[in-house]
Amino acid sequence: MKPDKLTNGVYRVSAKIGTRDLFEGIWPIPNGVMLNTYIVQGTEKTALIDLVKDWDGALKAVDEQLSDLKLNDSGVDYLIINHMEPDHTGAMNAFVSKYPNAEILCSEKAVPLIKSFYKIEKNVRSVKDGETVDLGGKTLKFIMTPNIHWPETMMTCAEEDQILFSCDAFGSFGRYEKCFDDELTEEEKVLILGETERYYANIVSSFSSFVIRGIAKLAECPLTMVAPSHGVVWRKEPQKIVDWYLRLAKYSQGPREKEVTLVWSSMYGNTAALVPSLVAGLESENVLVHVIEIPKVHESFVLEKAWRSEGLIVGMPTYEYKMFPPMYHVLDILERSHVTGRKTIRFGSFGWSGGAQKQFSEFVESMKLDVIGCVEYQGAPSEEDKQKAYEMAKSLAQAVLLA
Ligand code: FEO
Repeated sequence: MKPDKLTNGVYRVSAKIGTRDLFEGIWPIPNGVMLNTYIVQGTEKTALIDLVKDWDGALKAVDEQLSDLKLNDSGVDYLIINHMEPDHTGAMNAFVSKYPNAEILCSEKAVPLIKSFYKIEKNVRSVKDGETVDLGGKTLKFIMTPNIHWPETMMTCAEEDQILFSCDAFGSFGRYEKCFDDELTEEEKVLILGETERYYANIVSSFSSFVIRGIAKLAECPLTMVAPSHGVVWRKEPQKIVDWYLRLAKYSQGPREKEVTLVWSSMYGNTAALVPSLVAGLESENVLVHVIEIPKVHESFVLEKAWRSEGLIVGMPTYEYKMFPPMYHVLDILERSHVTGRKTIRFGSFGWSGGAQKQFSEFVESMKLDVIGCVEYQGAPSEEDKQKAYEMAKSLAQAVLLA
């Protein structure tokens, strides 16, 4: 790969990560992910913004591109760390060895983390909100944006060029052939729609109130480009990704999309047998439904759809007096990600005794779910159960449309 030129003196140096591993050790990346770092060259100094983890050849790829830019041992004066998570810092010791005289600039809260993670204390300096560093004709301004998505996170703005280096914020899953939004192929345009929402729901959703606050703070910065550390550089429509993130963040409060996520799991088909009646009830009101079977589909994709949906239907049988374990895991993920307040139905079968509903009620409370009803039955559902499910789903759809 070659470095991508954003404008004179500003480059993206990136690595395309494959599909083999899980992101953060949990989230599948069937379309891979980008790790982007950036170079800003002034007339006097050069800054490298964010790093990579040595993952799937990323360090070698980045090293080669830095060589293309002729950034040898004395070529970097500042190493700017917007965020400490290891996908952006894992190779910090390697970079410090390569550029031993570079000063590391980061937020105050990042300083102890650099020591804890990498045992580095030398040449580390914390910067304050609004502080600037002059590279010679290019000024970098630091904007503290805590909890998007770790407490130490900040963003860096190249003031003259109006380029925002936002690290995780405004990022997406997926690998993209070219650097910029206006270079996406038709296929990639479709890909980035889902992979931005899934990334937001998986990585950022818990911190939505901070995203709303951070975006309000960015209003004072005119932007010609948004350059995140995952995904593409938004050059044609920089405001589009900011507005998109704001919409995703506001799903935390509602209103959300007038859609329903129906997530179900079944041991022998008796819980599954109610799914067609529920879908028919929703479709009778022309409400879009995302039907997802657990554990065949990873919870990453459930979270993506549940985050945007006003309605939620959860189906699982009782297993050892409690919920079927794969669905417990899904609900745990939804709860941690702050999927709250959805209009909800629960359904499921049991054998000798129930128990799933009792355990589900704990999630109802913690997730503040607005429960429309429950259809639970011993063994296989009767025609009466199916009709009840149809009517209940219809009521849910009507409530979703009114939200
Ligand atoms: Fe891309 Fe929070 O790391």
